[in-house]
Amino acid sequence: MEAVSERILSVKEAVLTRRSIRKFKPEPIPKEKLEEILALALKAPSSNNLQPWRVVVVQDPELKERLREAANNQAQVSSAPAVLVVYSDMKDTLERVEEIFHPGFSEEQKQTRAANMRKAWEGKSDEERENWGKAQGFILLGFLMLMARSFGYDTVPMGGFNAARVKELLGLPSYVAITALLPIGIADEAGHEHHRHNLERVVQWR
Ligand SMILES: Cc1cc2nc3c(=O)[nH]c(=O)nc-3n(C[C@H](O)[C@H](O)[C@H](O)COP(=O)(O)O)c2cc1C
Repeated sequence: MEAVSERILSVKEAVLTRRSIRKFKPEPIPKEKLEEILALALKAPSSNNLQPWRVVVVQDPELKERLREAANNQAQVSSAPAVLVVYSDMKDTLERVEEIFHPGFSEEQKQTRAANMRKAWEGKSDEERENWGKAQGFILLGFLMLMARSFGYDTVPMGGFNAARVKELLGLPSYVAITALLPIGIADEAGHEHHRHNLERVVQWR
C-alpha cells in the first residue's frame, strides 16, 4: 500500500487502495494534515448546501479509550491516533442558515431564503431533522475516507456504537445525530481485498 505523503493518490487510486483498517501504527497525524483532509472533504455537496455536518476530532488517549468502550469495545478506536466523529446538528444549521447562502445574494434575498428554509423545516421532529442530517453526513464520510487515502492514511467507517454514550462523552446535545466514527491513521495491517457485487448485480440500464 502507498506510504504516507510520498505523493497524492488520484481519486481512482484512492478508491482502489482504500480498505477498512482496524490496526494502526501509533504515529500521530500532523494537525496540518488532518486539517487539509478535513478542509478538502468539507467540499462535499449537501442538499440545499445546508452542510449540517459537524466533526469532533478525538486524539486524547483517555477519551479514545472511553469511546472504544462506547463502540462495542472495537479495538480500532483506541488503536488509531485520531478518531473523527461525524454528526449532524440541524438546530445549529437552521439557526444560522443565512451563512450557507452564496455571498452574491443580496441581504434581502438571504433573508427571504432563510425564512423559506426555516418554514420548510417547521413542524419536523428532532428525529426527522437529524435522520436527514445524518444521511448528509454519510456524503462527508465518503469524501473523508477518500481524501485520507489519497494522502496515504487509512480509515474504517464505524456505525457500531452507543450513540447516547458517545454524545455524553463528547458533551454533544442529545438531539444531534451521529453519522459514524472514523478512526484514521497509518495502517499496520493490509485489510481485506475488495469483495464487491459486479455491475450486472447492481445496475439496470433502461
Ligand atoms: C456505515 C458503515 C458502518 C460500519 N461499521 C463498522 C463497525 O462498526 N465496525 C467495523 O469494524 N467495520 C464497520 N464498517 C466497515 C465495513 O465492514 C467495511 O467497509 C466492509 O466490510 C467493506 O470492507 P472494506 O471497507 O475493507 O472495503 C462499516 C462500514 C460502513 C460503510
